[in-house]
Amino acid sequence: FTVEIDAMDIEKGTYPHFMLKEIDEQPFVMRKIIQEYQDTNDEIKLDENVRQAMMQTDRVYIIAAGTSYHAGLVGKQFLENIANVPVEVHIASEFSYNMPLLSEKPLFVFISQSGETADSRSVLVKIKELGHPSLTLTNVPGSTLSREADYTLHLHAGPEIAVASTKAYTAQIAVLAILAVDTAKTKGLTIEFNPLQELAIAANAMEALTDQKEVIEEITKEFFIETRNAFYIGRGVDYFVVQEASLKLKEISYIQAEGFAGGELKHGTIALIEEGTPVIALATQESVNYSIRGNVQEVAARGAKTCVISLKGLEQEGDTMVLPHVHELLTPLVSVVPMQLLAYYAALHRDCDVDKPRNLAKSVTVE
Ligand code: AGP
Repeated sequence: FTVEIDAMDIEKGTYPHFMLKEIDEQPFVMRKIIQEYQDTNDEIKLDENVRQAMMQTDRVYIIAAGTSYHAGLVGKQFLENIANVPVEVHIASEFSYNMPLLSEKPLFVFISQSGETADSRSVLVKIKELGHPSLTLTNVPGSTLSREADYTLHLHAGPEIAVASTKAYTAQIAVLAILAVDTAKTKGLTIEFNPLQELAIAANAMEALTDQKEVIEEITKEFFIETRNAFYIGRGVDYFVVQEASLKLKEISYIQAEGFAGGELKHGTIALIEEGTPVIALATQESVNYSIRGNVQEVAARGAKTCVISLKGLEQEGDTMVLPHVHELLTPLVSVVPMQLLAYYAALHRDCDVDKPRNLAKSVTVE
């Protein structure tokens, strides 16, 4: 399957499901984002109003739901580690207006594929009444959140039809990385990380992964066909990605899955591990590689069936899958692809409706 960005219409074409097509489109979306956010001097091109809004704030509040919330967790890492901007990430429906804002100059950033999520929009309405500036990252220009916010950044992911969000998630991460570097540069910070170049490398790595579908389908058959539950573990940014991985699995295969912080297992959740419990571990972060592998040994000692997905350069004997190397800040772009495909094949082999899972809508326009 080769999908060019401009061929991303709302037809499945030769694909059996929109979700699989949209997973394959991700490398092309990366290249489209690079094209859209790069100027003629190969520098970052960004709406000057957004640039100034990021310069003027001393605290960013990311507001989102579901998969977009998981992208916001990764965005916090970028904005804090690259641009030195304090960030809070809030689930839209849980945002409390009684919470004291720790900032005189907050900037509210709404992440929403559809731009129509009612939980997110109701926060936007309220913070506008309070007179705070707002920025929306959305895949749908002209959507409610993009019209009502002060500023908008477009995800350029093309129409996302499957209920389970995939290419919008990786597009959100890419745009957040660009935003963080642009802010850092505008602040005069020294930046070693060129997101436009590193995104191009990540796009190639993501494309290589979409050629490993058979390997991932085999892992799925071994881990997810009969099981009732499944656990994903990770540390650092891998912890953010395993939360997204478990949402994907839950929402389309109906397996009760959870994404845990590896270090938290000993504080209670390891009691859930029984003989044969499937545990998928992400190991892409050098600083916590030893610790997460210790967690894998702990759960294996209690009978878990374990699968380690690691990053080239950190791999060890016995790892189930080794991901192509990318800049360590962008590992979520490659680590999420096998997670998306694991969920896809689990739903497929459990005869679930991959693109239209039960009880769910593509855009949740009710609170
Ligand atoms: C993601 O796979 C889900 N379909 C859902 O969690 C979604 O991310 C959430 O409803 C937020 O939607 P939005 O990005 O359009 O605001």
